[in-house]
Amino acid sequence: MFKWKESFNCEVGSVDQQHQKLFQIGMQLHEIVKAKDQLDHYDEMMEVLQELKHYTIDHFQYEEALMEKHHYPGIADHKEAHQAFINKVIEIENQDIDEKQKKIGMDIIIFIANWIESHIMKVDMEYKEFFQEKGSL
Ligand SMILES: [Fe+2]
Ligand SMILES: [Fe+2]
Repeated sequence: MFKWKESFNCEVGSVDQQHQKLFQIGMQLHEIVKAKDQLDHYDEMMEVLQELKHYTIDHFQYEEALMEKHHYPGIADHKEAHQAFINKVIEIENQDIDEKQKKIGMDIIIFIANWIESHIMKVDMEYKEFFQEKGSL
C-alpha cells in the first residue's frame, strides 16, 4: 500500500514529487494504524490525517491552477473529483471525533490508498499528454 510505481509518473511540473509526498504521508498513516502495541495512537493518527488533508488540498490547488492557466478542457470534472475526495476526508475526520469510533480503521486507509492510486492512474494521467504538448509550463 502507498508503494510508488514508475507508472505513476506524469512528468508534469512538480506533480510527481507531490504525489510521492502524498504516498509518504499515507504510508505514515498506515504504519500508525497497523501498530499492534496496544497504545492509543488516536492523536497521532488525527495529526497525520490532518497533514494528509492539508497536503492534498495544496496539491489539488497546484494541479487546478495549472489546468486553469493552460485551459485544460477536463478541468470541471477533475475539480469535482478533487472536491469529492476532500469531502470524504472531512467526513472521516468528523466521524472519528465521535466517541464510539476512536480509531481510523484499516478500511479507511485502504480507501485512501485506492483513491489516490486510481485518481493518479485515471484522472491525473488524462492531463499528462495535454501538458506535455504544451512544453514548458
Ligand atoms: Fe494529483
Ligand atoms: Fe488530480
